[in-house]
Amino acid sequence: MKKLLASLFAVALLVGCGQATSEGTPAAATEEPAATEATSGDAKTYNVGVAIYQFDDNFMTLYRNEVDSYFKTRGEKDGVTYNVTIVDGKNDMAEQSNQVDNFITQGMDVIILNLVQTSSADAIIDKVVAAGIPLVLINREPLGDDGDESYKGILDNPTVCYVGADARQSGTYQGEIIAELENHGDINGDGKVSYIMIEGDPENIDAQYRTEYSIKALKDAGIEVEQLDDQVGNWAQAKGQEIAANDLSQFGDKIEVIFCNNDAMALGAAAAITAAGRKVGEDIYLVGVDALDECVEMVNNGEMTGTVLNDANGQAHTAVDVAIDLLNGKAIENYYWVDYVKVTK
Ligand code: GAL
Repeated sequence: MKKLLASLFAVALLVGCGQATSEGTPAAATEEPAATEATSGDAKTYNVGVAIYQFDDNFMTLYRNEVDSYFKTRGEKDGVTYNVTIVDGKNDMAEQSNQVDNFITQGMDVIILNLVQTSSADAIIDKVVAAGIPLVLINREPLGDDGDESYKGILDNPTVCYVGADARQSGTYQGEIIAELENHGDINGDGKVSYIMIEGDPENIDAQYRTEYSIKALKDAGIEVEQLDDQVGNWAQAKGQEIAANDLSQFGDKIEVIFCNNDAMALGAAAAITAAGRKVGEDIYLVGVDALDECVEMVNNGEMTGTVLNDANGQAHTAVDVAIDLLNGKAIENYYWVDYVKVTK
């Protein structure tokens, strides 16, 4: 009876709410009871809650748009309606936690979650699991005690998984892009590569690994390195530009390579490089990660030395496919990995 009422309510909700929203506020009323697996005619409808850490992020914007559009593709193919609500955590963990509470109250059938802070993973996983809702974590990987892919909250729960890319690989590719240059990044021939590092959010394992593994790849290739500066740009273009501009005026020609943990910050650094009268490929090198369209174009015309494809489409499709497997009660893996790809001219 409860289930029947819930289904009837769900149909009413769906008729009232229509299709997917990409707004900060969920389309469905936040105080209402569960709307689970409604059936309208023969077509099934599932409610999907997607919580993104912050809409104002170039890469996660591509990712969330692809999640939305691929749910539509799958819906047409499967003859099912996926009613997708995407919310903006505004880089605020308390806000995101409330959004997850709302998803639970609304009776989402599955939740896809890009955590604001991985340190809150347990608290969030616990409440979603307690509510009986399957959960797909994306992009921000909570690490196990050993600092590896053995996060208890994921391993212990058969309806929780993580979809992502191994950030060590992206860092390694960044270092290799420099190591594989004819002069191995040593523009002034003093026997070492002098660099600055512009980091993403330091709580984020992508930032930690890219910072570490880019330099490790240089060292592993037998190249001596000198770090001139290492600063946090929080994934943001404006911050990347500010840090690069300050460093270019402080260290001048000593800077041979600017490593950015992502392309948004590399776009900022590229603007600072031009403003300082320097030229990528001639007197400085610049690498990022993500392969945003504008950065791939810059790599092609020499304004960036290289980038690394962070496959937003591949990750979005995997996340959606596994969410749908969960909706269908299929057994899933704990972890799904999508490869990075090195991008040079
Ligand atoms: C990274 C990506 C960054 C930023 C970050 C957010 O994987 O390279 O650009 O989107 O995720 O967590």
